[in-house]
Amino acid sequence: MKVDTVSYVGSFADAHALPRKGWPEIAFVGRSNVGKSSLINTLLGRRGVARTSNTPGKTRTANLYLVNDAFCFVDMPGYGYAQVSKEERSKWQELLTTYLAERDALRGVVQLLDARRTPASADIDLLLSLFDAGRRCCLAFNKVDKLSRGSVRKMIAEHLRILEPDQGTAVVAFSSETGEGKKELWIWIKESMGEV
Ligand code: GTP
Ligand code: MG
Repeated sequence: MKVDTVSYVGSFADAHALPRKGWPEIAFVGRSNVGKSSLINTLLGRRGVARTSNTPGKTRTANLYLVNDAFCFVDMPGYGYAQVSKEERSKWQELLTTYLAERDALRGVVQLLDARRTPASADIDLLLSLFDAGRRCCLAFNKVDKLSRGSVRKMIAEHLRILEPDQGTAVVAFSSETGEGKKELWIWIKESMGEV
């Protein structure tokens, strides 16, 4: 995918405050620190568009980026980070739940998982909520640069046994360090928006 332009649309703490203008959207969700913002930068081929950090809890709002004046990437706050206040956590949860269940413009959801870690109950719950909402979904197993080739396949197979995704769910091994999976993920994103 050739990315010509990227512009920041805005950050939203409330799902109902999101712009009504109907660009199709692809959202990126997953545990805190799993690499959502980094993956967005990798896809866009730009550093620092989406803010990343070593410290979990960096992304605190739904951040929208308009790509090629045609569609938006939505960088969501991560879940499962214990250090944020209960109040803030429930605000993020509300944002995520409402957005995923109700957003008309949403065409596909990329759920990131750390390829090295057994999926947590929060990961499983999120995936189930995506199925319930009838969302098109891609599981991106991230940070595969930290694993050997052989163990990537083995680990992903194990994780899939736990996650039990629907048949239509896409699966991609990804690394923002090496760019692995970038091409495949773009293909899935374009299909999600109906421009195969
Ligand atoms: P929150 O916004 O806090 O939910 O985190 P996030 O999911 O957006 O993660 P972010 O992109 O900020 O990355 C978290 C950390 O993981 C950073 O230190 C990144 O450099 C690192 N990281 C992200 N992707 C990869 C990857 O593919 N491989 C490796 N080795 N490190 C990665
Ligand atoms: Mg982030």
